[in-house]
Amino acid sequence: MTPVSWDSRERGASGAGSLPVAASRGQLQAELDRLRRGGGTLALVPTMGYLHPGHLALLDRAASMADHVVLSIFVNPLQFGPGEDLDRYPRSLGRDLELASTRGAVLAFTPSVQEMYPEGPPRVRVDPGPGGNVLCGAFRPGHFEGVLTVVARLFGLVRPDVAVFGRKDAQQVALVREMSRDLELGVEIDVAPLVREPDGLAMSSRNAYLSAPEREVAPHLFQALEAADLAFRDGEGRSAALETRVRDRLGRSAAEAGGEPVPSFRLEYAQVVDPGTLARVDDARPGHLLAVAAWLGTTRLIDNVVLGADDPDPRIPGPVQEP
Ligand code: PAJ
Repeated sequence: MTPVSWDSRERGASGAGSLPVAASRGQLQAELDRLRRGGGTLALVPTMGYLHPGHLALLDRAASMADHVVLSIFVNPLQFGPGEDLDRYPRSLGRDLELASTRGAVLAFTPSVQEMYPEGPPRVRVDPGPGGNVLCGAFRPGHFEGVLTVVARLFGLVRPDVAVFGRKDAQQVALVREMSRDLELGVEIDVAPLVREPDGLAMSSRNAYLSAPEREVAPHLFQALEAADLAFRDGEGRSAALETRVRDRLGRSAAEAGGEPVPSFRLEYAQVVDPGTLARVDDARPGHLLAVAAWLGTTRLIDNVVLGADDPDPRIPGPVQEP
């Protein structure tokens, strides 16, 4: 991982390739004025950077929905709890800007913490409501308050017509959607498909933390969800049975190594929920989400599947397998 300076003075208003970069609020407003003068709609894709094909698919989708696509890259301290990975969160600004310029973005907003929160941590914050306390929220207190607060601030600064989020973070997108609706923010929230590695692992900036043996085991998380989805398609409608299947499959992944010591998962939750309300359901139906979070060593992984979905989640192309 190349260390990248996070000092806004070293990141001026001009950017990599043809992509204008705004590191300050003033630059952002000037660039937005320029875009708006030409007319057309504006889409925002908020990210914390270290872009991978999952992020880039959001940019492609945003470009198909609006005339101008603005990307934001900001590692938001408000959404990290004490002892979480804020300090080691991977960063690669130069590379991110190059990638984004090839995928339809016309402006990148890359504020420093000081630029984003000039008065320090905001005193008024967005309360995510009951949906912020379940699933990941039960294990990361304050996380979704931090997410919604920064997303609301980004909406206020950029004033997009539409914002695109990934289903990878299904709870996040449900809460952002609820916020935009409940607070009448006037931003349409679009959900993009979950993009996977060739072996099924959900793409995530945090996958960079995995050691080689952990990376080998990591796809078992998706395989456990897939096994439960298969059982659902075969007629198993009890959520508890589907959740048990995930738990058992993850427990087995260590045993299958034939006694070799291998990294094993520590499951936080596996739950069937309604994707809109995030409430757990007893009876699983097509379209419900089976969501999971588990630790592999010091890396926290999340994933989910839409039960009974018509289309499989997209995967990035991998090396061609010889027959
Ligand atoms: P980050 O983890 O960088 O993710 C930015 C966006 O990319 C989110 O909408 C996320 O759901 C989406 N994304 C990540 N991995 C994906 C994958 N494999 N397939 C599809 N979409 C994927 O989520 C955040 O940042 C932050 O919480 C943020 C919303 C920017 C607020 O700080």
